[in-house]
Amino acid sequence: MANRSHNNTGHIGMNALKKRGLNHSSTEGIDHAPPDRTVHAILVMDCCDLLAQLPDNSVQLILCDPPYNTKMATWDEHPDYLAWSTPWLKEAERVLAPTGNIAIFGGLQYQSEAGSGDLLTIISHLRTKSQMLLVNLIIWNYPNGMSAHRFFANRHEEIAWFGKTKKYYFNLDAVREPYDEETKKAYLKDRRLRPESIEKGRNPTNVWRMSRLNGNSKERVGHPTQKPHLIVQRLVRALSYPGSTLLDFFAGSCITTRVAIEEGRHSIVGDIDPSIQEYAEKQLEKVENRDTPLFDKFIEYDILRNDLSHHPIFGEAEILVSQ
Ligand SMILES: C[S@@+](CC[C@H](N)C(=O)[O-])C[C@H]1O[C@@H](n2cnc3c(N)ncnc32)[C@H](O)[C@@H]1O
Repeated sequence: MANRSHNNTGHIGMNALKKRGLNHSSTEGIDHAPPDRTVHAILVMDCCDLLAQLPDNSVQLILCDPPYNTKMATWDEHPDYLAWSTPWLKEAERVLAPTGNIAIFGGLQYQSEAGSGDLLTIISHLRTKSQMLLVNLIIWNYPNGMSAHRFFANRHEEIAWFGKTKKYYFNLDAVREPYDEETKKAYLKDRRLRPESIEKGRNPTNVWRMSRLNGNSKERVGHPTQKPHLIVQRLVRALSYPGSTLLDFFAGSCITTRVAIEEGRHSIVGDIDPSIQEYAEKQLEKVENRDTPLFDKFIEYDILRNDLSHHPIFGEAEILVSQ
């Protein structure tokens, strides 16, 4: 049977653009130059209260790691998960820019504990009750996990990536994986392949093999469900651009703040647990110690604690910051 993607108008259109050296219209007017300075708000706040303060169409990327409803903490138990999720999902769609994306972490493995709902519930709700488009269901496959005897031991979680509109922003080149030298050499001999594409590396696909953080990982700042830096970094690089704003209203360990600073994005993060401020302090130490192998240029940043009023998301503050 012929490969159906050969007849897909989207693929055909993208290939035609690539041949002419052009980009998708979703990147039109986007300035990829890094800003001089970035601003990061860290708030102790309920997710819905935080969202209510944000303007329409203002956020480029929402990193959303909600309670999985597995009863692992007091904040992780919702007898009616859908009723609890519906208001913040609706608000998330409102605040996203037309090029915006939301990446929602979760699992499909937890039905016995999470009888009242999980990521499946959220996906099916968004597909029927929102205008957003499911772009990828990313499988996060990790080698380390619990053993099991009555079922196959679980080694994956999911990240559901929705774009607000068809013009969602996606920068594949920012996250390509380099080919090893041997593969590169072999591919460069293949006349059907374009040398520029081989140099750029491969699409990392929608299956990401990355370890979970062990208890003694150097990345840890004390939050029980902290996500790996590498995952957040890949999402930020691919789904947002320098100078745009990231939002994380279930911020936990504040890993989003750290990555936003390193990657030259503005950010707003919040969590109902006041410990967020201590976690943020530890993340900022990691930034200051340059724990992530960096970067040609380190971008200066400002932190707003429990204060949103001067964040560039409100427009006029941009002037304040760049002065
Ligand atoms: C799965 S954790 C997020 C972990 C985070 N992504 C990280 O990598 O560190 C979920 C977080 O949501 C917070 N939370 C639960 N209910 C909340 C609410 N209604 N508003 C804001 N935060 C909430 C919890 O305190 C917890 O830190």
